[in-house]
Amino acid sequence: MKIGIDAGGTLIKIAIEEDGQLTFKKQPSAEIEEVAAWLTTLPEARVALTGGKATFLQSLIPHDAFQSIEFDATFRGIQSFLEQLNISLDHYVFANVGTGTSIHFADGDNQLRAGGTGAGGGMIQGLSYLLTELTDFNEVTERALSGDRDKIDLKVKHIYKGDKTPIPGDLTAANFGNVLHNMHDMTFTADDKLAAVMGIVGETVTTISIHAAREFKTEHVVYIGSSFLNNALLREVVMDYTVLRGFKPYFIENGEYSGAVGTMRLMDES
Ligand SMILES: Nc1ncnc2c1ncn2[C@@H]1O[C@H](COP(=O)(O)OP(=O)(O)OP(=O)(O)O)[C@@H](O)[C@H]1O
Ligand SMILES: [Mg+2]
Repeated sequence: MKIGIDAGGTLIKIAIEEDGQLTFKKQPSAEIEEVAAWLTTLPEARVALTGGKATFLQSLIPHDAFQSIEFDATFRGIQSFLEQLNISLDHYVFANVGTGTSIHFADGDNQLRAGGTGAGGGMIQGLSYLLTELTDFNEVTERALSGDRDKIDLKVKHIYKGDKTPIPGDLTAANFGNVLHNMHDMTFTADDKLAAVMGIVGETVTTISIHAAREFKTEHVVYIGSSFLNNALLREVVMDYTVLRGFKPYFIENGEYSGAVGTMRLMDES
């Protein structure tokens, strides 16, 4: 049995390979001791680690685990998922929207970090709590779907007021920029605020990703990370905005396990 683990800032992603079959599970990073206790019951397993909490997890388990650099593991895992999906891309940019967001250039052989942003899954959780006091991720994502961003976000066409706009009028001019205009005759529900949170995170991640893609002269942008899980609105914002700007977005099923799968593959190849 082989186990690949990406122990991140928020979630521990686990890929298990047994008899050629891959299965996945995840657990909050706050429960890392439980993951260590589970691994301790599997002394024969070959374990590969990655992620910011890999070294800490190694200190809790009896295995002499393989360890790889998170960015390389993630890239290796994405390559493996793309291969399975029969998607062949020579060049692409990938954005890992985890607790934070990390953006990378990828070619057939290597990844190179292109940058990042603090807008990501951690911002979704923290800002959502500050605005609505909700802490359950799935409740946040589901309620965001019924919210109305238009009351909160200022669009280009709002500024130009019917005049001809130099860029598409439906683009966001200022996230949260419509609030003071509407404060006297509208109420902002928790759902509206959550929708606006997905808007600012999705648009920030997309803007930075497509700038990286343009610099790298590719049109392909692969988005992964647990922030997209059960989060149809974030996906929609990122997908639509990427397409609007003339780039091609890809979302990979189980893509949040790229680091876990990748570190296992790198162990195989070492
Ligand atoms: N069940 C869940 N519990 C908590 N957060 C969740 C859950 N499902 C999805 N998320 C979202 O996923 C984000 C974490 O994504 P991911 O697992 O890719 O990051 P990470 O690897 O832990 O962090 P990093 O790579 O930045 O160290 C959270 O910030 C949250 O927005
Ligand atoms: Mg991560």
